[in-house]
Amino acid sequence: MIFDFDQQIERRYSDSIKWNKYKGKDIIPLWIADTDFKSPKCIIDAINNRVSHGVFGYGKKPTSLVNIFIDYVQKKFNWELKPEWIVVLPGVVSGLNLSVRAFTNEYERVITPIPIYPPFRKAAKLANRDQLNIPLVLQNRRWVLDMNIVKSKMNRKEKLFMLCNPQNPGGTVYRYEELIEQLTFAQQNNLIVCSDEIHCDLVLELDVKHIPFGSLNNDAEQRSITLMSPSKSFNIAGLGASIAIIPNKYLRNKFLQARQGIVPEVNIIALVAAEAAWLHGNQWLESLINYLRNNRNFLVSQINLMPKLSMVSPEATYLGWIDISHLEIQDPITYFENYGLGFSSGLEFGNNNFIRFNFGCNRITLEKAIGRLKYALTKSDIS
Ligand SMILES: Cc1ncc(COP(=O)(O)O)c(C=O)c1O
Repeated sequence: MIFDFDQQIERRYSDSIKWNKYKGKDIIPLWIADTDFKSPKCIIDAINNRVSHGVFGYGKKPTSLVNIFIDYVQKKFNWELKPEWIVVLPGVVSGLNLSVRAFTNEYERVITPIPIYPPFRKAAKLANRDQLNIPLVLQNRRWVLDMNIVKSKMNRKEKLFMLCNPQNPGGTVYRYEELIEQLTFAQQNNLIVCSDEIHCDLVLELDVKHIPFGSLNNDAEQRSITLMSPSKSFNIAGLGASIAIIPNKYLRNKFLQARQGIVPEVNIIALVAAEAAWLHGNQWLESLINYLRNNRNFLVSQINLMPKLSMVSPEATYLGWIDISHLEIQDPITYFENYGLGFSSGLEFGNNNFIRFNFGCNRITLEKAIGRLKYALTKSDIS
């Protein structure tokens, strides 16, 4: 089946955060991580079907979704889950915040590699927890964790190790050996691991496979909470259906306790959307990945031809982490907005020498954005 990712869909007059930010302005939004693609027909049909029932009272614990998710994880990652390990959440960010609150106390520390998706850092701050930020290093054109740096900065108060795999914004997919090294480190320091794997479906490298942290072995399973969701891959982030996999009963109970009365159940429309995604969305997803891979290759080749800009090729996600340090501009976001480009600020992720470019858009938009970027770079003040 052919899926049309070139289709131009007007989002400016919808409730999109991404597009509303620049309403009435000629600025291409390339910031927040949702794509501009229409979700697959299987999801739209499932939602329409549920809506046409017309009664939207409280939902029950979604047994069918849990079974469908277990099946998807088994087939895709060869990880066998038990239904009682699954906690359904209305968003991955709530899972990050609950993990910090449930698994650390105010005297304990959270370890997070940076740059990182901003809510990782906010989660510690909001809960008044100290955080150890470890800069990722560039090795063989991949942003990776250097465990020796992590070890050298510890003060023995660390309790929770927060990972993002695939990494946002660096695009790294951690390999088996890297994950084992992270697990060994967690074992040696008695750490609980919270692994945000929301981008796990969006691996663009042909010879690379995502490995869930908890699937490494029984020890990894018992010390981890893994967060997944169909929201990025199928562009249903506004619906919010997400899953926390917490095999250890003690950790799961602590997590559920922290959730009580604060984080609600998932809305019933999101549940049917997630079911349809995992049951019927695979062909569409494969086609999306091909499209994104082409976008990525084009973006990376163009950026690395531009004077003073560089980026490594993200192995996954639709997010490019672009080094702009040689431009020496104080306020890159405003600078590029003046040339019609709305990027995410690297500062929010922990490094103002970078911008994040969301290439989850159609090719015409991407080419237009790259054209504007080239033009912005020809301006005399930075060339
Ligand atoms: C790594 C990561 N985690 C979580 C989220 C957001 O999760 P949710 O919208 O389900 O709260 C994002 C969105 O960009 C993300 O990149």
